[in-house]
Amino acid sequence: MDQTLQNKLKKEAGIKAAQLVKDGMVVGLGTGSTVRYLVDELGRRVQEEGLKFTGTTTSRRTAKQAEGYGIKIVDIDDVDHMDITIDGADEVDKNFNGIKGGGAALLWEKIVAINSNYYVWIVDSSKRVDTIGKFPLPVEVIPFGAGHVIKRMEKKGYKPVLRLGEDGKPIRTDENNYIIDLHLGRIDHPQELGEDLINMVGVVEHGLFLNMVDEVIVGNEGEPLILKNPNKNN
Ligand code: A5P
Repeated sequence: MDQTLQNKLKKEAGIKAAQLVKDGMVVGLGTGSTVRYLVDELGRRVQEEGLKFTGTTTSRRTAKQAEGYGIKIVDIDDVDHMDITIDGADEVDKNFNGIKGGGAALLWEKIVAINSNYYVWIVDSSKRVDTIGKFPLPVEVIPFGAGHVIKRMEKKGYKPVLRLGEDGKPIRTDENNYIIDLHLGRIDHPQELGEDLINMVGVVEHGLFLNMVDEVIVGNEGEPLILKNPNKNN
């Protein structure tokens, strides 16, 4: 998809999702380029409409952006739960299984998600797929012994690549960990893969978010599409 169109669709999904935020809510704010549009719109609503809510964020980047608009951001342990969390995603299939972590924030994203009453993804239409896995699956690992984790993953045929920054050094997450991207091509059994990964010593979390999301807002040409997960009580 052409980049200009993709950004337009991301923006439309972000603006649509901002309508879900109401006065007094505790709102989990995700990470990524689509969420940037969401936060811009929430910031506008705070400044122009007097919207009042409290936010928790899935990355320091998002916290900085939100605080720039005067949005009150608190630590996740200072709230009981999130009323709603809105985040982006890298891929989503028709069973509401997805991949997240392209922006390296998957660990905080999963922690915020599981403590949310209602969980929403905002994506452009290019993120909808038949089978997840074309997008490399991010896995967060602790730096100690990461080379051995990579070797074990290679033996399993997971095609791991340590994610490097522009400086050629491994990128660090907000928890100071590394990201290994698995170039699997397609993931036919995501549940089994997720269980295998989480049981590998050294792995902190993986980017498979399986049947967690309640609603997906898809930026589409025309009005954004609202997809509700029938397997969740929403
Ligand atoms: C961050 O780690 C990710 O999970 C993002 O939410 C995801 O990569 C989507 O990012 P974009 O909105 O930038 O496509």
